[in-house]
Amino acid sequence: MILTIAIDGPAAAGKGTLARRLAAAHNLAYLDSGSLYRGTALTLLRDNLPETDAVVVAQKLRPELLTDPELRAEATGRLASKVAAIPAVRAALLDWQRDFAKRPPGGKQGAVLDGRDIGTVVLPDAMVKLFITASDEARAMRRFKELQEKGEAAIYARVLEDMRERDARDTARSTAPMRPAEDALIIDTSALDADQVFSLAQDYIAQKI
Ligand code: DC
Repeated sequence: MILTIAIDGPAAAGKGTLARRLAAAHNLAYLDSGSLYRGTALTLLRDNLPETDAVVVAQKLRPELLTDPELRAEATGRLASKVAAIPAVRAALLDWQRDFAKRPPGGKQGAVLDGRDIGTVVLPDAMVKLFITASDEARAMRRFKELQEKGEAAIYARVLEDMRERDARDTARSTAPMRPAEDALIIDTSALDADQVFSLAQDYIAQKI
């Protein structure tokens, strides 16, 4: 039996941390689907290409790019959110994500995918669906601290504003907007630490499988 876990939610809510921990605990492969949109955006930025080339870039996306440290830069995330609103870009990346879940690499017994539309569009039949969220302020503070730890100059108010702008675009787009699937467990992580979130998710998974 292949176990598939779909995790969606806004930026900096704790999806990635939870996804990695669940993947390790259940011996599953992990795909951060945001890296596909970020990889598309990074190629446009590096090669100085217009947003209108995003579809062709997404179709030819190289896996090596998906571990590039520049993927995490704020400018890459901002453009990723813009190209992610283009339906043909999403269509170009859909099979990649579904194949990953169906045939997880490394002989794993299943996969964890995180993103914005995994439970609603990419894997509507996933056995476990989680929607990880937190208040805007809590998420902006986490991102702000991360940037500070990396030694990057950051202003909290600016981080909050950028995050709200990105969430608004990810939620308002007409194709595959960010929203919880009807059968998703919603976890608000504003007042929880990573261990507490992990343990809530583990309890839920135990009920489902
Ligand atoms: O999760 P992230 O910050 O790496 O995602 C970057 C952008 O990619 C995000 O603002 C919206 C887009 N995205 C998406 O539209 N659908 C996904 N499944 C994952 C990410």
